[in-house]
Amino acid sequence: MSKKELLDELNKKMTECSQCILRSGCKNVVPGEGSVTAEIMFIGEGPGAKEDELGRPFVGAAGKFLAEMLASINLKREDVYIANVVKCRPPQNRDPLPEEVSACWPWLLQQIKIIDPKLIVTLGRHSMERFLPNQKISAIHGKAMRRNISELGPRVFYALYHPAAALYNGGMRGVLLEDFQKIPKVLKAIEKSNSTLIESEKKQEKLI
Ligand code: URA
Repeated sequence: MSKKELLDELNKKMTECSQCILRSGCKNVVPGEGSVTAEIMFIGEGPGAKEDELGRPFVGAAGKFLAEMLASINLKREDVYIANVVKCRPPQNRDPLPEEVSACWPWLLQQIKIIDPKLIVTLGRHSMERFLPNQKISAIHGKAMRRNISELGPRVFYALYHPAAALYNGGMRGVLLEDFQKIPKVLKAIEKSNSTLIESEKKQEKLI
């Protein structure tokens, strides 16, 4: 099966999922969208009201900001893959509960395995914590890190502040914009250092 067929099949299964209570309170499941051959996968926290309405990730104010930042590094939404830790909107946009995140985790793992991106960019603290636990986003934002995830093997992660949080916080906005500009450099660093990093990998390695 092609990547597209595998993802289509996975998306269909996600829309039929009722593993946690979020599905009963949302309008649409938001599996994710973008290029199946994307080098970069962005992972947010969970759908908001607009995303729930349309069944698409990052289509509200935060999504507009994300699209602007992508344009600033000559990318379009269609060039990358955009998904979330949870695929159903938590009521009143509350943080997803640990059991909801756990219930959705296998979907995210399968998405990552199919797309097989070179770089996973986490958006916000909750997404970061899923892959880089016990870290502080204020300390590791804008630093590419290789980490061995048991279900995925070694992967490179790049933690960013969430665009929604940065939208209304001038300081954070500046930091996010600056970190975002480094993404092409991170990709180049991955291409150059891939084999040596895999061999020398211990736990977590700062790439740039
Ligand atoms: N915030 C997220 O984390 N994900 C979305 O899809 C939209 C807003």
